[in-house]
Order: sequence, then structure tokens, then C-alpha cells
Amino acid sequence: MERTYVMIKPDGVQRNLIGPIVSRFEQKGFTLTAAKLVTLSKETAETHYGEHSERPFFGELVDFITSGPVFAMVWEGDNVVKTARQMIGATNPAEAAPGTIRGDYAVQLSMNVIHGSDSVESANREIGIFFADNEMSTYKKNS
Ligand code: CMP
Repeated sequence: MERTYVMIKPDGVQRNLIGPIVSRFEQKGFTLTAAKLVTLSKETAETHYGEHSERPFFGELVDFITSGPVFAMVWEGDNVVKTARQMIGATNPAEAAPGTIRGDYAVQLSMNVIHGSDSVESANREIGIFFADNEMSTYKKNS
């Protein structure tokens, strides 16, 4: 079964958006496989966002993502990587459609509430950064 990594950023945690965002994924029908509230070290943040290390906003991005706890999650389900990205919406909240998470909850590019893996390969890499195998749960859900 496909899995993706989803992370509510410090702005989303501070604005009490954990519940509403988790609800969207639950109501869609995906299965929560792992979750934790954690403050990232600079090293973990730099590893997670390594592909952006040469970008001018990298320092700002690392400072922001380490500024408070994030809510790290693994969600499982058919086509969850692509569907979660659709539910999250465009990276720039100004371009995110209403009805998407960023379209409904965010205004600024740097504080865009949530991150979701952009491919199955990224998801596997990112899940491995944040979760050990024994932190993942497999269980049957009532529909
Ligand atoms: P995310 O999906 O977490 O992946 C990388 C993040 O970098 C992105 O969301 C944005 O929050 C952030 N980002 C992208 N472009 C910029 C930018 N020009 N200035 C500041 N932050 C940016």
C-alpha cells in the first residue's frame, strides 16, 4: 500500500490546525500510519529540505521549520502521494485553489501550513528521516 509523508508546519500547529487537517485526510479515507509532535533539529531540517540547499530561501526555510514543533504524519492509501498533494494545493498559497488546505488556511509562501511528499521516492526518503519502522502501525479501519 502506498504511503506519503505529511507535516503540519509550526504555523499550522500554532494556529490549532492539527485537528482540521487530520480530519480532512481521515474523511478522505486515508489511514494514519504514524504521527508525532516534534521540534526538528537544524540537521534534520537540512536533510529533509536538502534539495533546496542552493536556493536563496534555504536559510529562512530551515529557521522557520525549526522554530516550533511540527506534526509529522505518515498516511497510507491508494494513490495517497498524488491525492495528498492535490488536497494540500499549490506551494504558493496565493495560487492554491479554495478547498485545498493551503487555499483555505494560508497566505504566505514561507508559512504555508503543511508539507506533503512530491513523489513516491520522496515519500520513502522523508518517512525514513522522521520515523523508525517500529513507529508505524498497521490496523484495520471501520469504514
Ligand atoms: P514545502 O512544500 O514544504 O517545500 C519547500 C518549501 O519551501 C515550500 O513548501 C515553501 O514553504 C518554501 N518556499 C518555496 N519557495 C520559497 C520562497 N521563494 N521563499 C520562502 N520560502 C519558500
